[in-house]
Amino acid sequence: MLELIYYKNHIKREVDMCGIVGYVGEKSALDILLEGLTNLEYRGYDSAGIAVNVDGKVELYKAEGKLQNLKDLTSEQREHIIRSKIGIGHIRWATHGAPTTINAHPHSCNCGRVAVVHNGIIENYKELRAKLEKEGCVFRSQTDTETVAHLVAKKYAETKDLTEAVRLATMEIEGAYALAVIHQDVKNTIVATRRNAPLLVGIGEGEFYIASDVPAIIQYTKTAMYLDDNQIVTLTPKTMKLIDINNNELPQKIETLPWEPVALSKMGYKHFMLKEIHEQPDVVRNVLGGKLRTIDENIILNEVTLNKDSLKHLGRIQIVACGTSLHAAMVGKYIIEELCGIAVDVEPSSEYIYRTTVGDEKTLVIGVSQSGETADTITAVRQAKARGSHILIITNRPDSTMAREAGSLVPVNAGIEVSVAATKSYMAQVISFYLLAIYIAEIKQSASKDELQKIKRELILLPQKLEKVLSHKEDVQSCARKFSNSKDFIFIARGINFPTALEGALKLKEISYINATGYTAGELKHGPIAMLDESMPVLAILMKGKVYDKILSNAEEARARNARMIALTNSEDSKLNELFESIIRIPDVDETLSPVLAIVPLQLLAYYIAEFLGKDVDQPRNLAKSVTVE
Ligand code: AGP
Ligand code: GLU
Repeated sequence: MLELIYYKNHIKREVDMCGIVGYVGEKSALDILLEGLTNLEYRGYDSAGIAVNVDGKVELYKAEGKLQNLKDLTSEQREHIIRSKIGIGHIRWATHGAPTTINAHPHSCNCGRVAVVHNGIIENYKELRAKLEKEGCVFRSQTDTETVAHLVAKKYAETKDLTEAVRLATMEIEGAYALAVIHQDVKNTIVATRRNAPLLVGIGEGEFYIASDVPAIIQYTKTAMYLDDNQIVTLTPKTMKLIDINNNELPQKIETLPWEPVALSKMGYKHFMLKEIHEQPDVVRNVLGGKLRTIDENIILNEVTLNKDSLKHLGRIQIVACGTSLHAAMVGKYIIEELCGIAVDVEPSSEYIYRTTVGDEKTLVIGVSQSGETADTITAVRQAKARGSHILIITNRPDSTMAREAGSLVPVNAGIEVSVAATKSYMAQVISFYLLAIYIAEIKQSASKDELQKIKRELILLPQKLEKVLSHKEDVQSCARKFSNSKDFIFIARGINFPTALEGALKLKEISYINATGYTAGELKHGPIAMLDESMPVLAILMKGKVYDKILSNAEEARARNARMIALTNSEDSKLNELFESIIRIPDVDETLSPVLAIVPLQLLAYYIAEFLGKDVDQPRNLAKSVTVE
């Protein structure tokens, strides 16, 4: 028998990253699945689908493009679909096979009785597919996932037990996965499992939920159980059974999720990104709260469990991270080296894991990640841990996979960040690095009391200053309007604001698709200056301090090549009016703390440019909120 598949094709095609949701209980599953997927949409959005069981038949509904397309599709048959009290759903970020409807999840087997959703990559899918095809399976999609559907169907035919079928299937598959499976012959049952991809079970009254992330279920329940690698859970409306890959029953570690069931609302802002940018003053207050009390007291960082003696004698620090978190790490390097006198290397996790890196027990390895689920960074910290290094994780998700690798866990408490382009989590990470650097410096006595007090005083003043920056957002808006038609953008800075330049450029690239690059200002003349002409905007981050005059000279050099000059500055110097076509001013701030204020106008600039261009600000094409594949 062929399964029932309802397809809808759409012209708009995007690529994304994924999320899983599932429900089994007494309620209708449809709205729970769609709502769950909506709250996971920030993780990816190239196609979406659900599998339900209506009147004893497994049915799949899949649509290419945004989740709205699936909502439109299911609304056409709403009265029919709402009869199902079980379902699994998926929002995809394609890794194998184009983002088409046919490749959208759930996937099924030839008989149409099985439905599978999958997050991750089945690495040996080619071998499995060849083997299954030889045995008569007919594949419809180009995905790696479809192999799992055929494999589970085959194992079920042999064992007549869905949990056992999934268990046997996982013994044959290699790679990373979170999987949820339903079968037409096994009523009201979801079987789910994971390996190197997040998955949790939400526990309600006579009902269970599954999800790859908390926002999908938090409005229904705060009671949950995280699955560990290779655990298999079997859920019916009234029962939950947990086993390991060897079929041993396991105790269930049930916990209360550390999140409030806040509606993931935009609070009146047009986009989540704008809302999250505006939350930054409070984010800074939160991060400092309880840790920095007065300028006379030492920083309290109980989260750091490495003993003081080991901290004093650290040989080096390595920081691994990706994307925006990498830029926060670069700011961290500047401050730690300046205040603590410890050599710090910062490296993209994806590079760190494929070369011989040197480290030992005297090396502190810091992993920085908003999501705590970035595959490259997880692998990097695991490698470092195996070499004996202490692992300190700075993350916005204390409930994440990476957090579980931590020796010291420093949660940044920025609240759930929905917009794919990170803003407030960057802010929280950067502030955490200031706290960490002062904490180590106080233990090592590597910086003078006066210097540390000065930085602490400035830190306490930051939230108000950030509010001031935000209250002048119209200046940034008019600058954005002026430059929104530029094809390219250059950001220059030196010293501690070089990461700010990189982050400003990344924000612009991510959401407006304008080719933007950050350079150290001194490097401009070594090549990039050749690109300058009257069509090229050059934004100089000019903060008063050590490198102010140097950047000013570099800006003059760019101006002499007719570039369109923009200044982002805390200087009142009237000379700047001659050199710069646009000037964005921020409040006075010590150079060491200036990255905190300087990044905000750049986030706003990217936001407004993308908005003028009519781009999809919160869900830019090709991106995903957590990149759970290497
Ligand atoms: C940020 O705007 C990006 N979406 C991306 O670079 C992100 O910072 C990167 O993927 C790392 O994610 P993580 O912080 O969750 O590890
Ligand atoms: N590898 C699977 C696919 O490409 C799953 C991708 C995902 O995690 O969304 O369909």
